Amino acid sequence: MTNEQVLGFPQGFIWGAATASYQIEGGAKEDGRGPSIWDTFAAQEGKVLGGDTGEVACDHFHRYAEDVALMAELGLPSYRFSVSWPRVMPDGRTLNPSGVAFYDRLVDELLARGISPMVTLYHWDLPQALEDQGGWRVRDTAARFADYAVAVHGVLGDRVRDWTTLNEPFCSAFLGYGNGVHAPGIAEPGTALVAAHHHLLAHGQGMAALRALARPDQRFSLVLNFSPVLTDADDAAHREAARKFDGMHNRMFLDPVLGRGYPQDVLADLEHLNALEPAIREGDMELITTPLDWLGVNYYAPTRVAPLPDVSAPSNCGLPGMRGFDVLPPRGPLTSFGWEQTPGSLTDLLVWLHEHCPELPIVVAENGAAFPDTLDNGRVRDSQRVRYIADHLRAVHAAIERGADVRGYLAWSLLDNFEWAMGYTQRFGLIHVDFDTQQRTIKDSARFYSSVVENNTVPA
Ligand code: NOJ
Repeated sequence: MTNEQVLGFPQGFIWGAATASYQIEGGAKEDGRGPSIWDTFAAQEGKVLGGDTGEVACDHFHRYAEDVALMAELGLPSYRFSVSWPRVMPDGRTLNPSGVAFYDRLVDELLARGISPMVTLYHWDLPQALEDQGGWRVRDTAARFADYAVAVHGVLGDRVRDWTTLNEPFCSAFLGYGNGVHAPGIAEPGTALVAAHHHLLAHGQGMAALRALARPDQRFSLVLNFSPVLTDADDAAHREAARKFDGMHNRMFLDPVLGRGYPQDVLADLEHLNALEPAIREGDMELITTPLDWLGVNYYAPTRVAPLPDVSAPSNCGLPGMRGFDVLPPRGPLTSFGWEQTPGSLTDLLVWLHEHCPELPIVVAENGAAFPDTLDNGRVRDSQRVRYIADHLRAVHAAIERGADVRGYLAWSLLDNFEWAMGYTQRFGLIHVDFDTQQRTIKDSARFYSSVVENNTVPA
């Protein structure tokens, strides 16, 4: 339905909010949870802003029922969360029944409130025990992931319909092993490419194992992050700069999953590292191509690039082995993270995805923005976030009008939380969290989003 005031979304559109285990749970030592690479990383001086850690975070481990009640109050039909591998398998291999029981309780609580759980199996918190055995540098981690996926499915598979293998393997591989900004803090370009392949292999092995166990109505997915590229000119040098960034950022993980292998142009850009191709073994690419039911798309901002005069000069982009272009500073009104607010790039991305893989339904699995919110007499007037969400929902609507098969939208994030290397400085939540008292306050943006969800429309 579309009239002058509102833009309507398709019937059955999935609405909800998302979180991730290390960012909200806390309870780091409860019920036999083992350490993750993020516990180890955050404990090292200088790795996370302010020395923050996820040890307590939003204390969601103890307050999950309160948080589910808040979701119900907002009328959110779906909730995307991740399972902490080291809570479920402290050594990365052996099931810890009291650890997995937390997710049993959470799923039951969600279902009791009529909220559909959407499980992400890996959102960056690798068990430290597996990192000690090589982490994503070694193939065995992919097999361990498949075993873990099967174990979690064995416990929650009777109640959870939507499953995601990995969240943003790009970040986990490239920030974790390429520039070392994320756990485990390794800065080795070649290793990052090997880690990238092992993430995709884990996805493939996990998908194949899950599919073999699936109930007919279950849906399996992968969540990737995308950043459309903008340039100031359309000459050959700028197009080449855009191609390089786009290849590594947007096609590197997607194309193998679509059965197209690693993009040839990306392989050529990376040849000098001699790392990716030696890591690929027979049968890997077939596994990685195990079909998806939907693709999760995380979008926050575009990236601006420009060519460097010397095509062999190292890029400032932070991606392994990239040369010949730089990333330019973001423009316009920025979020507190310093990211651009360019909703049109989300439309472009969704339309491009529709052209690139027309058969694949899409769920926007994360979108949102951090702003310096203040709690003022029990209210958070986060008008900038209201605008960001409204603009981006209009952008999703525009993409649907242009043919993109977008099935849902999940706001990042339900709660203010631990924003990785930025600690607690970046508030992305629809719900404000006072990290001293753990008091939750529903922000204006949550009320706005709640009305969108209720009506299945966004103001035009
Ligand atoms: C994507 C990641 O999946 C999530 O963990 C993170 O908090 C947001 N981006 C914001 O940076």
